[in-house]
Amino acid sequence: MSQAISDRETALQHARELLQTCDKIVCFSGAGLSAESGISTFRDSDENALWSRYDPTQLASPEGFAADPKLVIDWYNWRRRIIADAAPNAAHQALAARSDIVQVTQNVDDLLERAGCKPEAVFHLHGHITHDRCHQRCGFQQKVDLANPPDLRSCPMCDAPLRPAVVWFGESLPQWAWQQSEQHCLAADCLLVIGTSASVYPAAGLIQLTKAQGGKVLVINTQASGASALADMELIGPCGEWLPALLS
Ligand code: APR
Repeated sequence: MSQAISDRETALQHARELLQTCDKIVCFSGAGLSAESGISTFRDSDENALWSRYDPTQLASPEGFAADPKLVIDWYNWRRRIIADAAPNAAHQALAARSDIVQVTQNVDDLLERAGCKPEAVFHLHGHITHDRCHQRCGFQQKVDLANPPDLRSCPMCDAPLRPAVVWFGESLPQWAWQQSEQHCLAADCLLVIGTSASVYPAAGLIQLTKAQGGKVLVINTQASGASALADMELIGPCGEWLPALLS
């Protein structure tokens, strides 16, 4: 067996042994979880990374939406069509097969749910691209057809513009999702940190919450990240390869 494979097998065995000692496991995921489904990440070094091609302040902020609402809606609808064509990858499926693992995700796609996770067991810290909501928060929200998303339109209840039900820079996180995620991370004896640069707060602060109360941090990423310094163990490589072997 080559050195690399034996190192991989050893690392996998250690990670499996770590998980076997834990019964309160939380998975904290980012865009890397959906990368192998063909959905671009935000900060990867490849040319497809969204923030290397687009200005987040122009497309993912209330100011950007006010300046050019049609541009923002068209950009989200372009992402929606990609997500509509995407399928859950092996990492989503491995996580969905473990209903004992609490899912806390920064991702706005629905691939964990499409892989079989119960919607009520997935806490979306940055919202849902699958829905539109009233920009003035009058309460109106509506699921959209990702394959044929609606153009810029007004709220039928208050006439304010409708926008994707996602969290933009400068906006607050959904209270319920945040509170539940905090509680689970404070109680976790292991936090799986999957495919995130761990560079956006307050979400990334969840890792420190688990660490500070003595929980273990197991990171899976294709490269070093903001989570590396807090990792008790780090598996470098695609999560679509590591997770099926780790969680089966
Ligand atoms: N397997 C594991 N990790 C991967 C894979 C993969 N197949 N592909 C990419 N990665 C890693 C990258 O190395 C990177 O560390 O996933 C991470 C993706 O980081 P970001 O692009 O920064 O995405 P994320 O951490 O989810 O960003 C957080 O920032 O722009 C906001 O709202 C947006 O929710 C997002 C937040």
